[in-house]
Amino acid sequence: MKFGYFDDANREYVITQPDTPLPWINYLGCQAYFGIISNTAGGYSFYRDARLRRVSRYRYNNVPYDLGGRYIYLRDDDSGEFWSPSWQPTRNDLEDYTCRHGLGYTIIGSRYSGIEAHSTYFVPLGEDLEIWRLTLTNRRSKPASLSVYSSIEFCLWDANDDATNFQRNFSIGEVEIEDGVIYHKTEYRERRNHFAYFACSRKTEGFDTQREAFVGPYRGWEKPLAVERGKLSNSVAHGWAPIGAHHVELQLGPDETQEVIFLLGYHENPQEQKFDPPASQTVNKKTVKPVIAKYLNFADVDAAFEKLRQYWDGLLAVCQVETPDVHTNRMVNIWNAYQCMATFNMSRSASFYESGIGRGLGFRDSNQDLLGFVQMVPARARERILDLAATQLPSGGAYHQYQPLTKRGNNDVGSNFNDDPHWLIVGVAAYLKETGDWSILDEPVPYDNAPGSEQPLYEHLQRSFQYTLDRLGPHGLPLIGRADWNDCLNLNCFSDTPGQSFQTTTNKDGKVAESVFIAALFVLAGRELAEIALRRGRTDEAQRDLAEVARMEDTVREQGWDGEWFLRAYDDFGRKVGSKECAEGKIFIETQGFCVLAGIGLDDGRAHAAMESVAKHLATEHGIILQQPAYSRYYLELGEISSYPPGYKENAGIFCHNNPWVMIAETQVGNGDRAYDYYARINPSAREPISELHRCEPYVYAQMIAGRDAPTHGEAKNSWLTGTAAWNYYAVTQWILGIRPTFEGLEIRPVVPKGWRGFKATRLFRGVTYNIAVTREGEGNQVALKVDGEPWESTVVPAPVEGQREVAVEVTLK
Ligand code: BGC
Ligand code: NOJ
Repeated sequence: MKFGYFDDANREYVITQPDTPLPWINYLGCQAYFGIISNTAGGYSFYRDARLRRVSRYRYNNVPYDLGGRYIYLRDDDSGEFWSPSWQPTRNDLEDYTCRHGLGYTIIGSRYSGIEAHSTYFVPLGEDLEIWRLTLTNRRSKPASLSVYSSIEFCLWDANDDATNFQRNFSIGEVEIEDGVIYHKTEYRERRNHFAYFACSRKTEGFDTQREAFVGPYRGWEKPLAVERGKLSNSVAHGWAPIGAHHVELQLGPDETQEVIFLLGYHENPQEQKFDPPASQTVNKKTVKPVIAKYLNFADVDAAFEKLRQYWDGLLAVCQVETPDVHTNRMVNIWNAYQCMATFNMSRSASFYESGIGRGLGFRDSNQDLLGFVQMVPARARERILDLAATQLPSGGAYHQYQPLTKRGNNDVGSNFNDDPHWLIVGVAAYLKETGDWSILDEPVPYDNAPGSEQPLYEHLQRSFQYTLDRLGPHGLPLIGRADWNDCLNLNCFSDTPGQSFQTTTNKDGKVAESVFIAALFVLAGRELAEIALRRGRTDEAQRDLAEVARMEDTVREQGWDGEWFLRAYDDFGRKVGSKECAEGKIFIETQGFCVLAGIGLDDGRAHAAMESVAKHLATEHGIILQQPAYSRYYLELGEISSYPPGYKENAGIFCHNNPWVMIAETQVGNGDRAYDYYARINPSAREPISELHRCEPYVYAQMIAGRDAPTHGEAKNSWLTGTAAWNYYAVTQWILGIRPTFEGLEIRPVVPKGWRGFKATRLFRGVTYNIAVTREGEGNQVALKVDGEPWESTVVPAPVEGQREVAVEVTLK
């Protein structure tokens, strides 16, 4: 069952009923000011950091699940009836409802009692504000007297503090109101130089800034007293819960349309110009007034909206494909790329499943996110790499997470996830291949942000590599530390105390438990590093790296192979994890996918065997599950993985992030049919018809789909912020379609289904547009290339001569 449809021409998903199985959300803003918005206008906004600069308040995990947001109320002043044109929070029976989630904007349209309303929400490029543009049309035969009420609940900046230290907050909230603009200035009197504002394009009849005055005692957002009464009370918040609400009155003749703009923004004043007059405690509004005036102007709002569209035209134009499969086209051309922007911006911090409080940007996560993002805005990828590297520790290890506002490592979580450092090499290699910008390797970058500790980025990569060599275990495999990619494989944790964090509790000294996954990652990263070293003329280093890689490969073959598949790990007793010998958890997906994609076993039959084992033991109709058999009880020596009920999350859920590893591995063993089949199983667009089961948005990937051991097999959870976005984008564009940036140029080597007659693609690469046409002549994966009509013996197309901006590449598959 569907709850909407894809409008590919407009690059929108159109939701046609408000009560979707879960809130189906979108992101506003893609640079510094961000908002999350649901299909019923729920959600919140923040500046840069969802924890430290929260603009509006949100209560997670609410009843209903999504309550609190950018709510507008309409009131028929003749009858006194009122409703929310976004359905929530009043939930009237709307006559018509559509929510168009587009790229950086959301338009919610509805009709109730003959009044049509469209609210367009977006963040103009380069601005720290959001626009709510309300368009009202009277479809009645008579004139209508309407009142419009806006509402937003301000958050007192630090979202954690806001939710936890409310005894203090009840006394510190402060606002100012001037010319109908509501300024939220809590803590501005002391150390903050920023404030929020909420403005309206029309003359207002009144305002409220104290929540209780607006909603009324013992009431909620679904029935605000002020709206029911038709009058705001001009309340001024002193402590308690500051909000912004405006009241606008409109007379609408039959078929007449009128518009109102509401503006919610964040603004910083120079430290020495905080107050006006300077000796007062009044916010200096001179700096913000021009911004407000600009975006209360319809022509400027139109222009900003158009600019946003063009911006996305440009970003998406980098890679456009035309394959025989609509789901591939739609995801690659629109939604997967779009989701990669969200994961790049948010890492795993702020969604409807991540509070924005708990985590900042993850080191491993953000590095992997680059795989799906770097081609869109390389300059931002560069900046991110340097930020990430600056949180690396002198040991080569890394803070697991850092706060985007301060760019400092997060001490609560700390370090010792032993896979982390290698992802920096993977991220940098992706950047170099895409851009050819070798200068990044010379950038001086500190360790742990300590001034004076700067070393070229290249040196950071060396330390990443060395980190593992300094931490090898009894079998010569990398020690796992707190966890590797699988956060829940906590082999040194041994926690028997409720509430202890599996990730930060360490009861073993960590000298025994080893990870075959990190070994594979080491091999992959080591090969990249050697390539980089070679191109920098560091032949000795390259040779050393390759020797270590070869040694590690041997170790994996000898110690990491179980006969039909790769082992997963050794626990603190030196016992195998992910082996036939285990009672449960006999086979894991991560090492099958990652060993093969790192090239291990391609020449000795192991890769092929591992892929057959995945197909036999792990593949389900809804995707590939993480391991089998699921753990049916808690294993002290394995940690969190065995804490989840069978079939969920890391305990045999379909953890979508690692499915593309197997897709890539399948392309490496030459099985395009299977690679594509696995791709299609978790492709959200392909799953749209089973939305009642899948439940999450059909336009973005979710972190997990319940595995076959779960009672709800096929149900997705935790949409949007997942490494699945980048890895699927990377797998399908670079390995299945085979359009792959390399250090030398753009490689084209598709491994597509036998039944495909061909496909077309355009790829903007280092300033040149490659027009690629692939035609199948045989059933295999042999590639013959013609470049601008001339036969070309390699699969890598080098850069054309200076000045040439387009290259035609004809590809024949045999
Ligand atoms: C991951 C989850 C995991 C959790 C454990 C997070 O980093 O998203 O997959 O279950 O850690 O608390
Ligand atoms: C989600 C985390 O963000 C990611 O870093 C991790 O690899 C997966 N969970 C698997 O545990």
